[in-house]
Amino acid sequence: MYRVTLPALGTFDAWRDAARRLLSHGVPPDGVLWQRDGAGGGDLFAADAPPDTVGPQKVATTRTLLSTAQSVICHRDGQAPALLYQALHRHQSDRRAMANPADPLTRKLMRLQKEIGRDIHKMHAFVRFRELPASGPRRRFGAWFEPDHAIVEIATPFFARRFADMDWTIATPQGVARFQDSTLDFHPPGPPPDLPDDASEGLWQTYFAHIFNPARIHLKAMRSEMPLKYWKNMPETRLIPDMLAAAESRVAEMRAAMPSQPPARSARILNRLATPEPSQTPATMGAARAAAAQCRRCGLREAATQTVWGAGDAAAALMIVGEQPGDAEDLAGRPFVGPAGQVLDAAMTEAATGPCWRTNAVKHFKFKPRGKRRIHQPPTQGEIDHCRWWLDLERDMIKPRVTVALGASAAYALTGNAAPLAPRRGGIEPARDGGPVVITWHPSYVLRLDDAAATTARTQMVADLRRAQAMLQAAG
Ligand code: URA
Repeated sequence: MYRVTLPALGTFDAWRDAARRLLSHGVPPDGVLWQRDGAGGGDLFAADAPPDTVGPQKVATTRTLLSTAQSVICHRDGQAPALLYQALHRHQSDRRAMANPADPLTRKLMRLQKEIGRDIHKMHAFVRFRELPASGPRRRFGAWFEPDHAIVEIATPFFARRFADMDWTIATPQGVARFQDSTLDFHPPGPPPDLPDDASEGLWQTYFAHIFNPARIHLKAMRSEMPLKYWKNMPETRLIPDMLAAAESRVAEMRAAMPSQPPARSARILNRLATPEPSQTPATMGAARAAAAQCRRCGLREAATQTVWGAGDAAAALMIVGEQPGDAEDLAGRPFVGPAGQVLDAAMTEAATGPCWRTNAVKHFKFKPRGKRRIHQPPTQGEIDHCRWWLDLERDMIKPRVTVALGASAAYALTGNAAPLAPRRGGIEPARDGGPVVITWHPSYVLRLDDAAATTARTQMVADLRRAQAMLQAAG
């Protein structure tokens, strides 16, 4: 039996290093006791330190497996290092298990990874810096944040990119990130620092007071989005009790000030709602487009401006399927005319793809209004299933020889497989109607990534589009 004690900082590197050495000696998962530094329980079993040289067996891994390990190792679940080792050990003889969403170990790791993702998201959204007295030309800031997991090392490079021109420290109970003179390093945890109130508190409060909409108070949703445990370190939350108390009278004021003119889109929407959906299956593309404009298969048409039907070359052998129209497409009535479309256009140009038909798994824009903005909401599987009637009709008319699925919703609509996209990206899967589907990222996902990750994802997307084009050429 070997024992590996993982340090609180540099945990992933230590795990990877030990796992590689153990695997290269063929050590099975039940031959290793993984524990974290300071976790105790160390004397229960006699155990050796892992071999410090690399053994004879080659160790295979994948980028997906390593990136899963990099996030899951941060999880506070004490089983995380052992589960990861189990997955890596299994990968040596079974390369497909991690891509199987029904596999219990894969599911468990995906769940832990999702929890880490959520924790990182909360840290990025809720860290509040206070300005500290400067000791040089750069401004200095400090923050205290209490994540659920030991994410300080993977979550803080985001702040280094975003606040590159100042020095800052983010202290957490699991470790401290310090960014000084453009260098980010990590230190063991200490007690919560004594941080002064500063002018940024007032700014946060002003901002929060402006975005707070008394007509949309939903306390449960608010607490789940911004859990109470973060409130004590967020200056703006001090305003919440007073704003809630005043909400009723503010709503009455807002009602009195309601505009008497309907918004510009309403005529088009009212006009459309008045026309019933035809009952026969359309026989031509024009008839299909007209029929889809009246679709009532799900509730999405009620808020959307119009149905966005596919566009492009109806004789093309290549079909590209996205998720749903965005704000710009909803207004224009054509797919991929907004920012995601620009990413797609550039990738297609780089991949030198030929003529194609571009459409979406769902033909209406799904959104949540926020002030004057309409915020994209992903469609549910039910909505995708309802809209598949139209996608199938479109596919029947176009008869593509190769299809590219952009993102998880399109991949689900086309293949029926709802598994996470990352392990599937770059692969080819059979469509429900039999043709090959090349799975790639959605361009909006590329837009959400930071620079380095976006470059990688964009390169992968171009490679996937090239692959689709090469398949078409090979088929003649
Ligand atoms: N995103 C999509 O999936 N489709 C569009 O048409 C635009 C953005």
